Amino acid sequence: MRITLVAIVALMAYAVNAQANPSTINSKIDQLLSAMTLEEKAGQLNQYSGYEIVTGDIDQSKMDYRKTMVAKGLVGSVLNVLGTEDTLKAQRHAIEETRLGIPLLFAFDVIHGYRTIFPIPLAESASWDLEAIERSARIAAIEASAAGQNWTFAPMIDISRDPRWGRVMEGAGEDSYLGAQIAKARVRGFQGDDLSRSDTVAATAKHFVGYGEVVAGREYNNVDISRRKLWETHLPPFKAALDQGVSTFMNAFNEFEGVPSSANNYLIGDILRGQWGFDGVLVSDWDSFGAMATSGVTADDPGAAQMALEAGSDVDMESDVFVQYLPKLVREGRVDKALLDAAVRRVLRMKFELGLFDDPYKYIDAEREKRLILAPEHRQAARDMARKSIVLLKNDGKLLPISKEIKNLAVIGPLANDQYHMNGFWRGKGQAQDVVTLLDGIKAKVSEQTKVRFTEGSDLEQRNHKKLRKAVKLAKKSDLVILAVGEDADKTGESASRTNIKLYPAQQELIQAIYKTGTPVVMVLMNGRPLAIEWSAANLPAIVKGWFLGSETGNALADVLFGDYNPSGKLTMTVPRNVGQVPIFYNHKRVSRPFDATDRWNSKYIDQSNKPLYPFGFGLSYTEFAYSPVKLSTNNIDFDNTLTASVTVTNTGKRFGEEVVQLYIQDLVGSVVRPVKELKGFRKISLNAGESREISFEIGAKDLAFYTRDMSFKAEPGDFKLFIGSSSDDVQSADFKLTAN
Ligand code: BGC
Repeated sequence: MRITLVAIVALMAYAVNAQANPSTINSKIDQLLSAMTLEEKAGQLNQYSGYEIVTGDIDQSKMDYRKTMVAKGLVGSVLNVLGTEDTLKAQRHAIEETRLGIPLLFAFDVIHGYRTIFPIPLAESASWDLEAIERSARIAAIEASAAGQNWTFAPMIDISRDPRWGRVMEGAGEDSYLGAQIAKARVRGFQGDDLSRSDTVAATAKHFVGYGEVVAGREYNNVDISRRKLWETHLPPFKAALDQGVSTFMNAFNEFEGVPSSANNYLIGDILRGQWGFDGVLVSDWDSFGAMATSGVTADDPGAAQMALEAGSDVDMESDVFVQYLPKLVREGRVDKALLDAAVRRVLRMKFELGLFDDPYKYIDAEREKRLILAPEHRQAARDMARKSIVLLKNDGKLLPISKEIKNLAVIGPLANDQYHMNGFWRGKGQAQDVVTLLDGIKAKVSEQTKVRFTEGSDLEQRNHKKLRKAVKLAKKSDLVILAVGEDADKTGESASRTNIKLYPAQQELIQAIYKTGTPVVMVLMNGRPLAIEWSAANLPAIVKGWFLGSETGNALADVLFGDYNPSGKLTMTVPRNVGQVPIFYNHKRVSRPFDATDRWNSKYIDQSNKPLYPFGFGLSYTEFAYSPVKLSTNNIDFDNTLTASVTVTNTGKRFGEEVVQLYIQDLVGSVVRPVKELKGFRKISLNAGESREISFEIGAKDLAFYTRDMSFKAEPGDFKLFIGSSSDDVQSADFKLTAN
């Protein structure tokens, strides 16, 4: 990379090896801070979006203004400026045209891949395969960093139990323990073990915090939860990301206890910066500072800037309030200059740690971009991840796997030959043209004698009688129908809440019409949220949850449908029977009047079961696994020792398979009401036909700790139940006691 003389001179003063010890970096930052004007300092906290991908209103006429702001050194980071060509231009502006030549950070939402698109994160979580998830993030980072990016706004680690909320597709489901493990895996993948390497990117734990609880699942709605719920459910993945060394955090759009997250002293001051000691960058969400005046917690934008900075937020994404008002607020003595310096220090430190002061162009390498984007090994990993993410929900009469020699195969459905939707929402730089459709995957898989015929059957949402008639005709002359139905990817993700989580009526009609033909049907569901598919679950013989699986959709699905890969995914979000059950999740607390079918006065619906359609942790295989009763090494432990719980799992079927062995615990009596069970461990194992393996979990007081009545986190002596099994609803149990020492 060619660096001009001006740039070299400007940077030489601050160049320091990214691995240098913190005091060297600090003294370099001191030098820089003493050279900066108040405007330049506020500029380092200012972040603008480029033009390509936006998730808020953007005024195109302001692009020129933004460029001049970069040239004046009044922008510290940008998002959505992608590819080596554009990042090079922008970085050159910053290095060559600004007084101090401070490099820019380049951020992007690399949520499930940059150009090689992996399954949506909710799907990946269904793999319960932490190594594969880490690899997926690693590859995303390799591609993104080869295209000039050094900061990703991922992982999104909000826990949510509400499928109405479109953003459930971005997270790891409903469980805090699993969510915490997956958060760590993704951070490891993005950041690797050395942030200064040119193939790693800084990760962001977002959205801090509670966003998954938007009331009634409506996007950008308020959140009203207790501190207990915050600590029990929402903070664990964030703490895990922090422990894994996540570089940055992002504020959430929602308020907590009446104060916007972006300016919430309890969330930021007391928890994140206080108890947790996080001293890295905290970035706002898109215009979340600007939105403060809209929600009425401050009368104007200067007030928002002051509140956000004083609470401990650092970077202003897209609202302009820091760069516009902070210098003046400091001059007028309304904001302490030391707070501004502290925030700028954090941004500069991040730039040092990424090695940008050594070489601001280190991530911008056209040759690497060309070589690594969509590399065959990345596609291979995407296929592997996609296969692992698929969940087999139903397989009556072993309809699956399908023989590759089948004679007449109908592939029907509005998503069966679709490329666009398969990349899901937050598709990075993913292109529809890179996607292998289900139809193509199937065609590549079956024997030469197999006749594969395709027809759409309906539009995604609109009824189409002509298409329907054609599909029925095709189904009638086929041996089997693979029916691909589901959601519009753009109706999942951000700002895509639904009050109805059923399939669109046009598709439901199609399903029922095909079913009526009597030809066996395998339904492949392509979706970004749990969908209430009660009719299909009751009537169709086989259902495969195929999510939005990304670039390798068709190959991965064909691997599963035709038995080259034995499905092993397990749900990480409960599937409700209807929207009225929402929020529904496995680890709910005990109630004072538990369900009792014979009594009227207890906790139940009068028109629907309490049970979900499919529980958390559920997923079938083409083989069967038998679990022995649980053995405990002892059934009495104190606070200093542990017990070992073991089961023997046997593959009783006829083929190799993988199983996720899940451990749950219930605390029978607590100082506060405790959940009916909580996931405390899991192992993903593989077994040949007939093979058995003993799986053991070690349990000690630390696994039994919770937020007690006074909110201290500890275990309480007493009786516990332990469960091991293949889903939250299919377990063997044993009892033990924790005694005080
Ligand atoms: C989303 C964030 C995202 C940001 C930048 C916002 O609307 O809430 O998750 O990182 O846009 O694209």
